[in-house]
Amino acid sequence: KSGMFTYDPGFTSTASCDSGLTYIDGEEGVLLHRGYPIGQLAENSSFMEVAYLLLNGELPSQDEYENFTYTISRHTMLHDQLRGFYQGFRRDAHPMAIMCGVVGALSAFYHDSTDIADPEHRKISSHRLIAKMPTIAAMAYKYSIGQPFLYPDNSLSYTGNFLRMTFGVPAEEYEVIPAVEKAMDRIFILHADHEQNASTSTVRLAGSSGANPFACIAAGIACLWGPAHGGANEAALNMLQEIGRPERIPEYIARAKNKDDPFRLMGFGHRVYKNYDPRATVMQKTVREVFDALKVNDPVFEVALQLEEMALNDDYFVEKKLFPNVDFYSGVILSAIGFPTTMFTALFALARTVGWVAQWNEMISDPAQRIGRPRQLYTGPTQRDYVPFDKR
Ligand code: SDX
Repeated sequence: KSGMFTYDPGFTSTASCDSGLTYIDGEEGVLLHRGYPIGQLAENSSFMEVAYLLLNGELPSQDEYENFTYTISRHTMLHDQLRGFYQGFRRDAHPMAIMCGVVGALSAFYHDSTDIADPEHRKISSHRLIAKMPTIAAMAYKYSIGQPFLYPDNSLSYTGNFLRMTFGVPAEEYEVIPAVEKAMDRIFILHADHEQNASTSTVRLAGSSGANPFACIAAGIACLWGPAHGGANEAALNMLQEIGRPERIPEYIARAKNKDDPFRLMGFGHRVYKNYDPRATVMQKTVREVFDALKVNDPVFEVALQLEEMALNDDYFVEKKLFPNVDFYSGVILSAIGFPTTMFTALFALARTVGWVAQWNEMISDPAQRIGRPRQLYTGPTQRDYVPFDKR
C-alpha cells in the first residue's frame, strides 16, 4: 500500500508503492503525468498547470488555474529572518548545500502548517514549498555572486519571477525574454515528477514517519544532489566541456566502456528507461529554440549531438540499452540562459519540489498509510557466542 515498501529480490529496485501520479514505460520510453504524455504537456502546458495536475489529478479550469497561481504567488516571499540564514554560509557554498539548509530551516518557521493530519495544513505547506523554492534558489545564486537579493515580483509569471530574482539587479529594470521564459518553464515541466526515483523515495520514506514536510523535502534535496541522480546535469555539461571537440569523443566513449575505468557518460543511461528518455527528446529541441532566441551557438551542443550519434551506434551502448536521459542536454540550455553549472541541480530541485510535494500528499493522505520499513537480505554471520578478549 501507499507509503509501505515491499522488497522483491527479483527486482533491482528495493521499494515500491501504489501511486497514480506518474507512469513510466522504460522499454517504450513513455512518461505520463496523470495520463497525459510528457511531450504534450511540455508543448502545450505550463509548469504551474502541471503542478496543479500533479497535486489535484486533473487539468485545471481557467478559474481553478487563476486561483491556484494567485495562491502560490501569495507565498513567494521568504521570512526575513531566513534572509539572515544565508549569511551563515561561505560565499562559495554549493547552492544545493544552501537549499538543503534553508528548506530544512523552513521547518522551524511554519509550525501552524505542519499539523499534517489536517488537509488544510497539508495544502498550505505544499503551496509554501512550491512558491518559495524559486525565491530560495535565486537567493542562493545571488548570495554566491555577492549581489543583493531581489524580492519576488508577483506581477510576473512563476517562471518569469524566478528569472528576474536570479538575473535582475536593483539598479535596472529586468526584461523577461518570452522565449527564455518558455524554455525555462518547459525545463521545469520536464523535471516536475518521475515516479519513485531515489529522491522521491527519500521524501516518501521520511514523510511516512509523519516528519515535518519541510524537513522531508530537504531530505529529497540532499538525495537529488548526487551525481548519479540530479547532479548528473552539472556533471554532463562539465563532461561535454572537457571533451571540447568532436575529435575527442572516441576517447571518452572508450573510457565509458572500460570496466576498469570509473568514468561514465554523464547524462546517459537510466535505472528505468531502456529506450530514449522522452524528456531528452524535448530537451534537444529546446536547445535549438534557445540558441535561436539568444543568438548563441555554443560548440558544446555539437559535441553533445555527435557524442549521442556515436554512442547510439556503438554496440556497447546498444546492447546495454543506454540512451541520453533528461540530464544530457539540459545543461547546454541552462548554460546558454546564463546559469553557472553549480545552479543546474538547484533548478532540478526547484522543479522536482512539485513532484515531491504531490507524492508526499498522495502518501500522507492515504488512510492506510503506514511507516515505510524496507527489509534486507541478511548476508552477515549466522548466530555465534561471545568470545572474551583472552580467547580471540
Ligand atoms: C536521473 O530514477 C529516475 O527517474 C532519475 C531521474 C529523475 O527524473 O528523477 O530520471 C533523473 O537521475 C537520470 C540519471 C542521471 N544520471 C546520470 O546520467 C549518470 C550517468 N548514468 C549512470 O550513472 C547510470 O546510467 C545510472 C546511475 C543512471 C543507472 O545505473 P545502472 O542502474 O547501473 O544502469 P544499468 O543497470 O542500466 O547499467 C547497465 C550497464 C552497467 O554495466 P554492467 O554492469 O552491465 O557491465 O551499463 C553500464 C552499467 O555500468 N552503464 C554505463 C552508463 N550507465 C550504465 N556505462 C557507461 N556510461 C553510462 N552512463
